[in-house]
Amino acid sequence: MNDISMSSPDLTDAERQAVAAVMRTPNLSMGHEIQDFEKAVRELTGSQYAIGVSSGTAGLHLCVRAAGINDGDLVITTPFSFVASSNVLLFERAVPIFVDVNPATGNLDPEQVRQAAADLTQGGETARRWLPRSGAREGAPLKALLPVDVFGQPADMDPVMEIAGEFDLRVIEDSCEALGAEYKGRKAGTLGHYGVFAFYPNKQITTGEGAMIVTNDDQAAALMQALRNQGRAPGDTWLQHTHLGYNYRLDEMSAALGRVQLTRLDEIMEKRQRVANWYAERLVEIPAVEGPAIASQTTRMSWFVYVVRFATGFDRDAVARQLGEMDIPARPYFLPIHLQPYMVERFSYRPGDFPITEDLGQRGLALPFSGVMTEAQVDYVCRSLQQVSMRK
Ligand SMILES: Cc1ncc(COP(=O)(O)O)c(C=O)c1O
Repeated sequence: MNDISMSSPDLTDAERQAVAAVMRTPNLSMGHEIQDFEKAVRELTGSQYAIGVSSGTAGLHLCVRAAGINDGDLVITTPFSFVASSNVLLFERAVPIFVDVNPATGNLDPEQVRQAAADLTQGGETARRWLPRSGAREGAPLKALLPVDVFGQPADMDPVMEIAGEFDLRVIEDSCEALGAEYKGRKAGTLGHYGVFAFYPNKQITTGEGAMIVTNDDQAAALMQALRNQGRAPGDTWLQHTHLGYNYRLDEMSAALGRVQLTRLDEIMEKRQRVANWYAERLVEIPAVEGPAIASQTTRMSWFVYVVRFATGFDRDAVARQLGEMDIPARPYFLPIHLQPYMVERFSYRPGDFPITEDLGQRGLALPFSGVMTEAQVDYVCRSLQQVSMRK
């Protein structure tokens, strides 16, 4: 065993002590830790509101509710993402309208977003080509855009916001993978009307399970605060519920962990950057693979995963399998959302519908990645990758 894992949290005794301290109090939920964590996120992002929730999925779902997205509404989003970014639309019986991505970055292609928004707004035959074969109602309103900051690189948000302004759309920025990233010097997550950062243990910082919503919208914040807490509005007692809500609260142990992790964000991002650099230096020696493409003019990367791409026609899955046999985990990233079985069943998507997404999905492989990886481990992964890819 070489002890190389797909991902690993980066924890110190400060985090352990903070969690243990909560456990010496009776306040395991809804105490001051969540308030302190939220304050720290407000300070980091400059957002007026930060709302701690139990997962990135929960956070995105609350944004969908806050954006007033309802049964049958259309939302333009990306098929090259983790499924949750589309699932939250399905939770409200809304319809994701997929558009294809930029082949270099894997982020939404703003030109296609613009075309889709214009065509869907016009309606009729022009709109139809963007709708799925089934599961969408013709003439349904386009309500929002849901870009995703893929792998820790912000989406091209200036044109996205311009399009939103032009067509009067709400923008939910899925920054679940991008805490700390920047777009033209501005923080990812703060570029739309609502943003969400997620803290699963493979993320830049972790709370175990958990996430944070940020927004500057007073009404949306009040609604989301109520909805995460079983729909209790200000003034409601424990058993009064103004809204149909959820239990999407973040507990105090998780919040304490997140609060301390956040104080270490710069250090954690630097360590992850260093590991990414080690990979980049070695990958240039391996002709079969290409490292991640960063839009260096606009992006300050906050590395989430390290995804390489194989040359077209290369048997990526065979490489992954052989790495696995050497105890090196590696994972295809992402499998296109529109081809997941339940999406095909509902919307009748077919292979070939979003060719760039599908191509990236076939050629991308996430290598083991975390800020606590050593240079020797990166070296071993790359040497093994080189060996295995030469056999193909
Ligand atoms: C792009 C994206 N959106 C949403 C989520 C959902 O976050 P969570 O797993 O915390 O529910 C993730 C998590 O991996 C993600 O990568």
